[in-house]
Amino acid sequence: MLRTHTCGELRKEHVGQQVTLCGWVDKYRDHAGIVFIDIRDRYGKTQIKFNLEDNSDIQKDARGLRYEDVIQVTGDVVARPDDMINPKLSTGAIELRVSNLNVQSKAATPPFLPASSELPNEELRLKHRVVDLRRPELQNALIARHRLTKLVRDYFDRHGFLDIETPILGKSSPEGARDYLVPSRVHEGCFYALPQSPQIFKQLLMCGGFDRYMQIARCFRDEDLRADRQPEFTQIDVEMAFVEQNDVLEVIDGLIADVLQKMNGIEMTTPLPRFSYADVMERFGSDKPDMRFGMELNDLGDIAKECGFGVFSKTIESGGRVRGLVAPQAAEKYTRKMIDELTAFVGVHGAKGLAFFRVNESGLDSPIAKFFSDEHQQAIIERVGAKPGDLIFCVADKEAVTSAALSALRNRLGKELELYDPKSFSCLWVLDFPLLHFDADEKRWVAEHHPFCYPNPDDIELLKTDPGKVRAQSYDLVINGYEAASGSIRIHDSRIQQQVFDLLDIDEEEAELRFGFLLEGLRYGAPPHGGVALGLDRWVMLMCGYDNIRDVIAFPKTQKASDLLSGAPSEVEEKQLKELHIQLDLPNE
Ligand code: AMO
Ligand code: AMP
Repeated sequence: MLRTHTCGELRKEHVGQQVTLCGWVDKYRDHAGIVFIDIRDRYGKTQIKFNLEDNSDIQKDARGLRYEDVIQVTGDVVARPDDMINPKLSTGAIELRVSNLNVQSKAATPPFLPASSELPNEELRLKHRVVDLRRPELQNALIARHRLTKLVRDYFDRHGFLDIETPILGKSSPEGARDYLVPSRVHEGCFYALPQSPQIFKQLLMCGGFDRYMQIARCFRDEDLRADRQPEFTQIDVEMAFVEQNDVLEVIDGLIADVLQKMNGIEMTTPLPRFSYADVMERFGSDKPDMRFGMELNDLGDIAKECGFGVFSKTIESGGRVRGLVAPQAAEKYTRKMIDELTAFVGVHGAKGLAFFRVNESGLDSPIAKFFSDEHQQAIIERVGAKPGDLIFCVADKEAVTSAALSALRNRLGKELELYDPKSFSCLWVLDFPLLHFDADEKRWVAEHHPFCYPNPDDIELLKTDPGKVRAQSYDLVINGYEAASGSIRIHDSRIQQQVFDLLDIDEEEAELRFGFLLEGLRYGAPPHGGVALGLDRWVMLMCGYDNIRDVIAFPKTQKASDLLSGAPSEVEEKQLKELHIQLDLPNE
């Protein structure tokens, strides 16, 4: 080994020992003839010291050191004087008095300094990811990711799950995003699709007799990217045979509790709370509510119907809804200008306006208060449970718009008003999603999740009479307002599968073409089965308290799905295209 210790290892008990460290030059100070350097590796930092009276060659070399040079130093560990001890540094009680310096590699001037407290812009960080990876935040995120993955594998191993790999070069899978395609050289004109998830293969593994499967699986989806989405991401993918919904939820409850306890020292009470889709949509306007705080939505339909404010009463007449929420003690905090900004914000979510009322001792204060009688004002205050000093916001619109606008507003206000401890965790299940929704543009039923979700047994009859009311045996795990996992019990009964295909307007030929190999697998004795997939990147992001999954991925892609480090995607040679029988037909610029 080129070193005897790491840069995070030395303590008081090492004083007097001769040691050798290797690492990067993190900080450089020249004080009255003494050069102090912080040398860094992934374990920490150690202060090293070059004295004037020491050998002059070392002096010269030390003065020639630059940020991010990689060095090897040998010297004696000495105790720092009491007033020089740095309690913030794990090695802060000692320093190294260098007797030998070996420069292992000189660094060109780095585009930014990993030690700097100022974060450079993300484009620069992604382009120079190698330097960025040296920042403690990224190092900690990747270490946390490693630990979490290890705990997950151990947990599933203890519970009898087998880790089985499924193909990357495959056939299109049904998660609803666009596929990434890979041309086949051998089969002219044919393409593989990269898996959007191992969904079909894990169901086939159940049919193949592997009743407990798990995989840390890479998935690929060509979709619009956001802070919590990457074109390639990782799922903790799980499937179980001979189970009911509750069995799957219990296994994941156990996983969440185990990992949060071991990684964050948080004791989770299990079972995790469960809510129906209908319930959370009514109370929070979202199927992924952040329940670290309250601020539930309230229905004001009956009051709105009778009031003198035309926007409200007409909305109710036309079948829409008027709903509101209370921002506690926010009446003074939010100026008119800030409320205009919130109005623009809900506008992005489709709301045509945002009514607001400041609550005072005598009633409501608002440009539209005059349209509400004293009784109506009191009724609103009572309904939403407001107190003097609170600020009430209302949206009148189609139900879906009130949900989208108010849930986004709720999340924003919860954060701005600091209604929760950002280090806390709220985990919950949302159950009973609708099986289908009606796509008004295409005038047809579409699967809410995918076409293999088993309908709730109580609703099977409704498949024929009122498909929109059929609940699926599907479930989402929500952590701090993010969809962290999603799954369902699958259809293993070919008659019910046929009924669902009929509703989705998937005829036999199309079913055979798209999912033939799954249907074939289900034909020869399929066990009842179900499963779930957790977004690993999102989970690590939440555990680390970050709000961008790029910060927990070593080499992530930008919003435009490019890798600024390697330059992917890139053009390829004509020869490669020829081999693949591909001719480009690019749009004219
Ligand atoms: P779903 O499509 O809901 O379900 O994905 C499961 C979980 O994966 C995460 N996730 C993502 N993370 C980062 N970037 C993305 N682009 C991205 N897309 C999804 C989310 C999500 O909850 N086969 C089903 C699971 C099943 O039914 O067993 C599936 O893939 O956290
Ligand atoms: P207006 O009638 O457009 O001048 O709006 C009067 C007030 O009602 C403003 O504060 C608007 O933001 C609010 N408002 C208008 N449309 C809606 C709506 N659909 N929902 C809630 N408030 C609205």
